[in-house]
Order: sequence, then C-alpha cells, then structure tokens
Amino acid sequence: MKNIGVLTSGGDAPGMNACVRAVVRYALEKDMRVYGIYRGYEGLIGGDIKPLERGSVSDIIQRGGTILKTARCKEFETLAGMKKAAYNMKVFGVDGLVVIGGDGSFKGAKELFDNFGVPSVGIPGTIDNDLAYTDYTLGFDTAVNTVLSAINNLRDTMTSHDLANIVEVMGRHCGDIALFAGLAGGAEIILIPEKKVDLEDICEKIRENRVKGKLSNIIVLAEGAGNAEEIQKTIEQETGIQIRTTRLGHIQRGGTPSMADRILGARLGVKAVDLLYEDHEKKVNKVVGIKNNKIVAEDYETALKATSKGHEDLYTIASILCK
Ligand code: F6P
Repeated sequence: MKNIGVLTSGGDAPGMNACVRAVVRYALEKDMRVYGIYRGYEGLIGGDIKPLERGSVSDIIQRGGTILKTARCKEFETLAGMKKAAYNMKVFGVDGLVVIGGDGSFKGAKELFDNFGVPSVGIPGTIDNDLAYTDYTLGFDTAVNTVLSAINNLRDTMTSHDLANIVEVMGRHCGDIALFAGLAGGAEIILIPEKKVDLEDICEKIRENRVKGKLSNIIVLAEGAGNAEEIQKTIEQETGIQIRTTRLGHIQRGGTPSMADRILGARLGVKAVDLLYEDHEKKVNKVVGIKNNKIVAEDYETALKATSKGHEDLYTIASILCK
C-alpha cells in the first residue's frame, strides 16, 4: 500500500503527537504518501484531509494533545456515516488508515472494514490502559505520572493538617491509573472497579491507621469504582475523620509525554506503517500493541474481546506495602 491516512480519535492522550510524527516520517521514508485526517472520523466523513510532509510534524514530539485534533463521532456509528467516510477515502486516494484511539475507535475501524472493506491498523491511544491485549496504551504512563505528582503535592498538605484525601482519577471502567499511581504514590487505600471493597473495611483500616498514629490517608479512587462524595460522607460519618476530595479530571489527559510514551508511540507507529506497507491486497485489519516489551499485532476482534489484565499481583503488593 502506498497512500495512507492517519487520524486520532476519542479522548486525546499524551504521546499521540509523537506517534503521528513516527507514522508520517517512517511512511515518507518508505516512499509512501501520508494524509492527516482531522478530528478523527468526523474529518473522514467531512473530507477534512490534507497531505502531511516531514515538516508538518516538526516540533510536536514533546507536545501533549494531538495536532490532528480529535472527536467522538456519533455519525460514524451509522452505516450512512461510514459510507461517506469510505467514499472520501476513494476521492482522496487514501488506501488504508492508521487509527490512533481507544476501544470505541477500534470498533469503528473494524466496522468500516466489515461493511466497506477499508483496511486499517489500530494503535492503542488512551490514558485508560483499558485494552487488555496490550500491556500498555499510549498516554497511560504520562497520565500516571501526572497523578503521582498530584499525590505528592496532596500528601504534603494533608500530612501537615492530619487530613485524608480522596484523589479521584480517570480510567472509565478500568482501575489501572488508580492502581499504578496508588502503588507508586504509596496511597493507603486504592479503590478500583476490578476489586469490590466493602466501605466498612475501608473505615476499619482508617481507624487502625489512627491507632498506629497515622492520621493522614491518601485514598486513590478510580472513577469507575464509586462516587467520591458518597464515599467521603460515609467515611467521615463512620470514623469522624475529615476528608477532602480532589477530582483530577482532564489535567490527566494533557501534558508533555513521558519518555515511555514517546518511545511506545514511535515503536507502534513504525509497526503500523510496516503492516500497511506490506499489505498488497489491501486487507489488513489489525491492531498493534506491546506484550512483554515486544511489539505485537492482533486482529481487531481478538483485541476487543481480550478480558481485563487484572494486575492481581500489583494489588496484593500495594495492600502489603501501603498499610
Ligand atoms: O477515555 C479517556 C477518558 O479521559 C476517560 O478516562 C474518561 O472517563 C473520559 O475519557 C472522559 O471523557 P470526556 O473528555 O468526553 O469527558
């Protein structure tokens, strides 16, 4: 395949720019033509498609967000929307796509192939780390580091005032941001959707900590694991301690990408281009990811079916170390 398009879709994630840069520059090196598709599938439907050169991706490796912009596109979920997208690819002479996004974007790419035969390679770009076929998604490492820096700041002030803090983090239905940031940040309590915990047990732990002389507690709450206000109210009532709640929100999505995300973006981008380049029959329909530090490729279907990573080991370590 010689002519490819690249788009970013769904929630932005740090490292997307580094990945777009890798896709563009590596494809040009292989004498391919690369088109940037703006605002994800919205731009594919609306024909917002422009050729990209080496210089188009200069000075972006260190920037969060995505120069291609991104969107969550409802119209693309309809056959009519997909038909327009496939038509525009013909008009612009784009033979295949690199789709950088999360599970919703992957489902879209799969549907586009199943219904209109459009080949693509998906790159997991989401801070949530909620795609189980890959050890890491692009943006996760940076987001966890952002949360860690917030936990460090909160701990200073919470310790000074002998207060507890619920730090609510993103992740949708996945607890990885909370688990990794909680373990790395020494949080006393980590609440994730994968592990149901009784609130009474949390209260008991806080009481035990008080007996040990520990008056300040950091509670990292994954957004999918419960309602921060309700948890705060219950713990305050049951233990008599004072709690503050900090919702980190979209701060977690921005910021300069970490080394790990830039390297991952480069490796995944190169692999995606290789798969499209080698695809003479225009039939590729795969995602790329990283498993045990090796770049791997999977069918969309298999990738989307993969069940949760679990991280039982990390959860156990956290509960021992963060007592
Ligand atoms: O998928 C990335 C993510 O940031 C989730 O962690 C979060 O639940 C969601 O997107 C927020 O979406 P929006 O930016 O549309 O509010």
